Amino acid sequence: MLGMSRREFLLGSAGTLTAFAGGSLIANHASAADLTLPIKTLSHSLLPDTVTENMMGFGAGGPPPVLRLKQGEAFTIDVVNQLDEASIVHWHGLRIDNRMDGVPYLTQQPIEPGEQFRYTLVAPDAGTFWYHPHCNTLEQMARGLTGVMVVEETEDPGFDQDLPLNIRDFRLAGDGQFTSLFKPRNAARGGTLGTVSTVNWQSEPVYDLPAGSLTRLRLAVTDLTRVGTYDLSKADAAVIALDSNPLSKPIAPEGIVLSPGQRADIALRVPETEGEIVTLTRRSAKGPKVIARFRAIGTSAGRSLSELRPLAPNPVPEADLANAEVLDFVFGWSPESTAPQPGICGSLGYTFWSINRVAWEGDTPNPVEPLALMRLGKSYILRFRNETPNAHPIHLHGLSFKLLRSNKRALPPLVTDTALLLAEETMEVSLVADNPGNWAFHCHVIEHQKTGLTGYIRVD
Ligand code: C2O
Ligand code: CU
Ligand code: CU
Repeated sequence: MLGMSRREFLLGSAGTLTAFAGGSLIANHASAADLTLPIKTLSHSLLPDTVTENMMGFGAGGPPPVLRLKQGEAFTIDVVNQLDEASIVHWHGLRIDNRMDGVPYLTQQPIEPGEQFRYTLVAPDAGTFWYHPHCNTLEQMARGLTGVMVVEETEDPGFDQDLPLNIRDFRLAGDGQFTSLFKPRNAARGGTLGTVSTVNWQSEPVYDLPAGSLTRLRLAVTDLTRVGTYDLSKADAAVIALDSNPLSKPIAPEGIVLSPGQRADIALRVPETEGEIVTLTRRSAKGPKVIARFRAIGTSAGRSLSELRPLAPNPVPEADLANAEVLDFVFGWSPESTAPQPGICGSLGYTFWSINRVAWEGDTPNPVEPLALMRLGKSYILRFRNETPNAHPIHLHGLSFKLLRSNKRALPPLVTDTALLLAEETMEVSLVADNPGNWAFHCHVIEHQKTGLTGYIRVD
């Protein structure tokens, strides 16, 4: 066994078993995956005293498990589709091999009911990410298929605990059962909001944390629609990363705008006094709405935020702006001439939106032409022009980009995979096209994505 990895050992023993079984090797993988992730329907109590039926989940039951990877290390996941419709899983924000990106027809065939697919993920960046289907997304995500994924830094920053917060709404009627998942008239506007707000599938959870300890809160907005502004009450805390990229200067956890797909990592020093509570709220017209509470328990661990090691920047290359080519992307209404094609991954049969005048729903067996071609290794400036009166969280798969400037506001130099483009805003971002393949590019308001605000960019 000396010098043999666990994986090689498993491979070896599986081979031996095959020989004994007379060569009847039917499994397509000789070794077990690091994780088996079933996708299935389930029921769960989202609200007290009621059980919501017809939910969809990952894993054994309950809220989707937090997946934990290590930066730079391969991790294999067998996704087993136990639904009675096709599905697929996308790992939002991971700059991985295109074949593992989980987009139907563009990177792989949908996973049919009863079938499974092995994803091998090697995450170059550390931070907070998430995962969700990219098939019939409006329904599958609405019913629960959104989970948080953590990629741990190679160097431990020194927290006492790590608390992922999967923030999303569900559209439930008064009886706790799903109501219409969206309304077409809203799909043509800002999108349809949920009715019940949850964190880790609970409404207003209270988390007990050791007094005076250091906690890493990982906020991940996996909602289909809602853009929110979040505040952490009177706490000794700082935002240390946004969309998985560390901030060079941590900022106060006040007025953090997070749109669907976006994340924020907050370093929180739990209050010293037993019973003291820190509250995470979201702003609303009716005043702050409580999202979650954090309560100090026990005697103080006496730690301080200054003991944390700063997070190392992720290895995202800097664009060469002097030699970058500018590519234009216009987000607008759907041209009337476009007839959407049906796909087994769920078409609504109509479109409202477009990118560069092309309306695509992202799931048809014959993808449209790429919106742009990028040469591998070259630098680009992408100019996003929003012609519409609605905001759009614009997301690019497989590549991270840096915010440069806007015609509406001063932009911090953030590196991200999802940027909120305001109504009628023009924003420029830069990137190096260092990851080959066809990369989906879409609005993360899922109703917009499904009604035309989707395309892809080819890097080769
Ligand atoms: Cu969260 Cu196409 O992605
Ligand atoms: Cu993505
Ligand atoms: Cu949108």
